[in-house]
Amino acid sequence: MRVAVLASGRGSNFEAIARAFREGKINGEVAVLIVDNRKAGAIKRAERLGVNWLFVDPCSFPSREDYDRRVVSILKHLGVELVCLAGYMKVVSGVFVESFRNRILNIHPSLLPAFPGLRPHKKAVRYGVKVSGATVHVVDEGVDTGPIVIQVVVPVSPDETEESLSEKVLKWEHRIYPQAVKWFVDGRVRIEGRKVIVEGADYTRLPVVPALEDF
Ligand code: GAR
Repeated sequence: MRVAVLASGRGSNFEAIARAFREGKINGEVAVLIVDNRKAGAIKRAERLGVNWLFVDPCSFPSREDYDRRVVSILKHLGVELVCLAGYMKVVSGVFVESFRNRILNIHPSLLPAFPGLRPHKKAVRYGVKVSGATVHVVDEGVDTGPIVIQVVVPVSPDETEESLSEKVLKWEHRIYPQAVKWFVDGRVRIEGRKVIVEGADYTRLPVVPALEDF
C-alpha cells in the first residue's frame, strides 16, 4: 500500500513509520512526506531515508479547505490509500476527511479522550493523573475525537515534568504508530461506528491495547 505522512515538526514518528516500511515490516512504501512548515525537521529525515517530500505552503492558499484540496489532489495523483498525520499541527478540514474517510490516522500523546489539543503532557502533569500515554485514532471532523485504534499506558511519577513525560511516551509512539499502520495495510481493521476492531488482535493485556505484534 502507498502511504503518505503529513508532518509539521521534528518528524520522529514519520521516521518510525518510514523505517518500518524500509525494513520490510510493512508492505508498501511511504510515497510522500508532506510538510506545511519549511523548517520541519522531518525534511532532513526524509532526505536521509530517501523518501520523497513536498512542502505545501499554507500561505499560498486563501483557506484551510483550499489548502486541503491541493494536498488531497497530490495524494490522489500519487495513488495514496492511507494518510498518517504525525505531529501535523493543522486541523484537517471536512474536505480532507471526506476524501479519505476512515483512511486518515493520527497519533496524539495522551489517553484520549483525556487532554485533546495542544500540550497534552503539560495538561496531564498539571492535572495530577497517575497514568498517561498515547493514542492512534482514525481522524474524523473533530479535534482528536475519532475512533481509537490502539493505546499505550505510561505511568506518571510525582516528579514528572512535561518534558520527561513526553520523552517516555514518545518511545512508545514509535512502536504503536507503525503497528497501527501495519494492521491497516494488512486489511485487519474493521470500523463499526466508534469502535475499531483489529481482527485476531489480543485485547487482554496492558500496557498496549491491542497488544503489539511486530514492533
Ligand atoms: C508527537 O508526540 C505526537 O504525538 C504529537 O506531536 C509530537 C510530534 O513529534 N502530536 C500531537 O500533539 C498532535 N495533536 P514528531 O514530529 O517527532 O513525530
